[in-house]
Amino acid sequence: MERTFIILKPDAVQRGLVGEIISRFERRGLKLVAMKMLQVSEELARQHYAVHEGRPFFESLIRYITSAPVVAMVVEGTDAIAVVRNTVGATRPAEAAPGTIRADFGLEIGRNLVHASDGPETAASEIALWFGDDLIEWQRAND
Ligand code: CMP
Repeated sequence: MERTFIILKPDAVQRGLVGEIISRFERRGLKLVAMKMLQVSEELARQHYAVHEGRPFFESLIRYITSAPVVAMVVEGTDAIAVVRNTVGATRPAEAAPGTIRADFGLEIGRNLVHASDGPETAASEIALWFGDDLIEWQRAND
């Protein structure tokens, strides 16, 4: 059982796609274990995207993610990190496979609707940064 971190970015919220996107994750069988809507502070944005510091798009990325509310969540399930990444699709919408969220709803790399952790270490650090220990522990019958 694995957990991963997801942000529905300002474009997803503004375009009224929150329900549609969460529904895609739920329909794959992923279980929500944390969720909140928030206006991201500059400090949180810089910490979250620290790995991109110095890249040409970094400052516009920070401006964008702090510009309007986002919905952050943690989901849980078998191979959750890979399942979420392939439900979301490639970072560049033009390279995202048809049927993925970014292909179905996106066009611009800077407005690609969703952020999803790219590996176990980033998932753990992003969950800790955004939620601390504030996660639901679901009862599991047989595992
Ligand atoms: P995300 O998965 O949130 O991680 C970093 C983000 O930077 C990425 O999605 C894109 O939305 C954004 N970004 C903007 N411009 C670029 C770019 N030229 N290359 C990669 N990522 C970019």
